[in-house]
Amino acid sequence: MASFSNRLLTWHKRHGRHDLPWQRTRDAYRIWVSEIMLQQTQVAAVIPYYDRFLERFPDIATLAAAPQDEVLRLWSGLGYYSRARNLQRAAQLVAERHQGVFPRALQDIAALPGIGRSTAAAIAAFAYGTRAAILDGNVKRVLGRHFAVAGYPGDKRLENQLWQLAEEQLPPRASGRYTQAIMDLGATLCTRARPRCEECPLADSCKARALDRVAEFPAPRAAKAVPTRAVHMLLLLRNGEVLLEKRPPSGIWGGLWSLPELGDAAGVRTHCRTHYGCSIAAPQTLAPLAHGFTHFKLNIQPLLCPVKTFTPAAQESGRLWLSLEDAHGAAIPVPVRKLIERLLGSG
Ligand code: ADE
Repeated sequence: MASFSNRLLTWHKRHGRHDLPWQRTRDAYRIWVSEIMLQQTQVAAVIPYYDRFLERFPDIATLAAAPQDEVLRLWSGLGYYSRARNLQRAAQLVAERHQGVFPRALQDIAALPGIGRSTAAAIAAFAYGTRAAILDGNVKRVLGRHFAVAGYPGDKRLENQLWQLAEEQLPPRASGRYTQAIMDLGATLCTRARPRCEECPLADSCKARALDRVAEFPAPRAAKAVPTRAVHMLLLLRNGEVLLEKRPPSGIWGGLWSLPELGDAAGVRTHCRTHYGCSIAAPQTLAPLAHGFTHFKLNIQPLLCPVKTFTPAAQESGRLWLSLEDAHGAAIPVPVRKLIERLLGSG
């Protein structure tokens, strides 16, 4: 039987993905941007964001020099915004530490914010042909099944074992193609829910398959109840404009423009007066909206607050009145965009 890597490479020639936008380049910057976007997002969702992002920021220097707002605006909707903040911070570090040229050495790549060991290896393999193992979620599943590695995701010993297996399977050459091949196998055949083992080039040596236990690898993460948080979001409307506030630089939606929030609706009129200088008509309760994060669920109760009179506070920085159309195009979180779409739709 041919080796693990040879069977993968042969399969990939015919059945792998060859036409993704980031595969038509050896430019480390473009590959880097794609790998960051693909960390938590599926290929199909990434492509339009990727094209827009690179059109606006065609190189590291442009990204490093851009206003953060602009970077977040082009990321708006992809989620996990720390990825965008780290990407720009890393571009600035490349300018400072590496004369603006994306580094070649794995340890220099992995030292940049937002780039772990696997992402560094993927970038180096695709851009420079570096022989380095990757271990993303897809690859963990492929190796975990093929070698029937027991253990729970997140367990350090399992992690180390998988890294070792990943390194052992690396072919002596063809690292970019091999890296793409093992990613593609995990994404298209060796999927979590519906693996297509009949088509898999590795099926004959797959231990999980031999044991008829493919569904048991990887072991499911211990089910954890996600906590719920409730918040009121205020849609302060004045002359067709809505008030947005800039969020603190880190944490959920860090640096994005969002709606004012309030824990308790009881004091909403006082709150609008004291914090925003707005006296409002009776607030109107709109249909609630839920938004899922990895670690908790946010239940949003939107309140439409028509502004009667407005007395700007002394300190208005970090606040912005925007028309609904402009707000819709700004760097805002997805649920806020949905709320604004509701208002736009209702004329
Ligand atoms: N997911 C992460 N990196 C990828 C790549 N280069 N191609 C397809 N899917 C990916």
